[in-house]
Amino acid sequence: MATDKIGWGIIGCGGIGSWHARAVEASEQAELIEVCDVVPERAQKQAEDSDCSYVTSIDELLANDDVQAVSICTPSGMHSEQAVAAAEAGKHILCEKPLDVTLDAIDAMIDAAAANNVKLAGIFQRRTWDSSQKAREAIRNGKLGKLVLGDSYQKWFRSHEYYASGDWRATWALDGGGCMMNQGIHAVDLIIWMMGDVARVSAYCRRLARNIEVEDTVVANVEYVNGALGTWVTTTSVTPSQGTRCEIHGDKGSITLDGSEITQWAVEGEEVVSGEAGEDKTSSDATALDIAGHIEHVRDLCEAIINNRDPVVPGTEARKAVEAIKAVYLSSRLGGQSVELPLSYEDDGPGIYPSQNWMEW
Ligand SMILES: NC(=O)c1ccc[n+]([C@@H]2O[C@H](COP(=O)([O-])OP(=O)(O)OC[C@H]3O[C@@H](n4cnc5c(N)ncnc54)[C@H](O)[C@@H]3O)[C@@H](O)[C@H]2O)c1
Repeated sequence: MATDKIGWGIIGCGGIGSWHARAVEASEQAELIEVCDVVPERAQKQAEDSDCSYVTSIDELLANDDVQAVSICTPSGMHSEQAVAAAEAGKHILCEKPLDVTLDAIDAMIDAAAANNVKLAGIFQRRTWDSSQKAREAIRNGKLGKLVLGDSYQKWFRSHEYYASGDWRATWALDGGGCMMNQGIHAVDLIIWMMGDVARVSAYCRRLARNIEVEDTVVANVEYVNGALGTWVTTTSVTPSQGTRCEIHGDKGSITLDGSEITQWAVEGEEVVSGEAGEDKTSSDATALDIAGHIEHVRDLCEAIINNRDPVVPGTEARKAVEAIKAVYLSSRLGGQSVELPLSYEDDGPGIYPSQNWMEW
């Protein structure tokens, strides 16, 4: 490699893979060396766009000594196997959400990264936004007083065409669930990061409007470890889409986040802000992402490697939202019964009980 930048590889050149390529290209500390996809045309197209080499098997990519870090951008249920292989090849890992679709698979990748002394970072780009960080800092510094409620509402729209755009989408095996494991995980991660860990959930998951194997609408009641309560609402079946809203209330103040904007800042002794939400384009169009969060994740992993520190979203952090979502699925399966975290059941695969007919939930 001609530079002292961190050599990067990308596994999976579909929708989000191209975002990672652009994010690496925008980074001062990383250089895109090689991309990989099992569909040769996709790998070749990305290589042409990024002026790098391409291969069609992960083994070839992992054998490239110029590659020090990889982005995993394949269907969710493939992440762990690829991350373990990458860790064993000595590559640092930036893995798309969710880390994988079972807790066993996620634990395997966390263990492999630790055993091989490489960094494992999860992607949750909403954590990188200034508004999210400002809100979390205020909450953690006690500016809202005793936390009372932490609600998240992610009422999105995904079309039939979206679900038809990949065989793996909306399958238990490779998507790990529906609107909550794929899309709602963004809001679940954010609200847990703000509020703290979850003690128990009680939920209803339903498939209301889409002809898919998994849920398209979820309502969950949540109790956090600190005693605060909350409601998580997630859907991909409403028109028009309503964006993503997190409402955090304490006995001394309240903060509301609408997408990347703070629309309520009511904190004792500080100027009160109230505003209108901007448009959250990803709520209706999966391809309308803002690249800034991914650039920040690449920059953060580079610095974590260089300074030998944890990335902002280490594997153990990225695991939390998946565990909470598994608890939501289990509660719904049990007719809305309360499910305690940490989960103590045997995680026997995608959807917890894949043999069950979803409509019986
Ligand atoms: N952070 C975000 O906002 C965000 C947005 C979209 C997708 N994602 C996540 O990114 C991942 C991919 O989603 P997508 O929408 O890009 O999917 P996609 O179907 O568009 O792309 C996946 C690509 O992986 C390739 N692939 C499959 N098996 C492979 C293998 N064994 N080796 C190499 N390549 C292989 C496919 O050919 C395809 O090109 C998912 O986990 C998804 O949840 C995250």
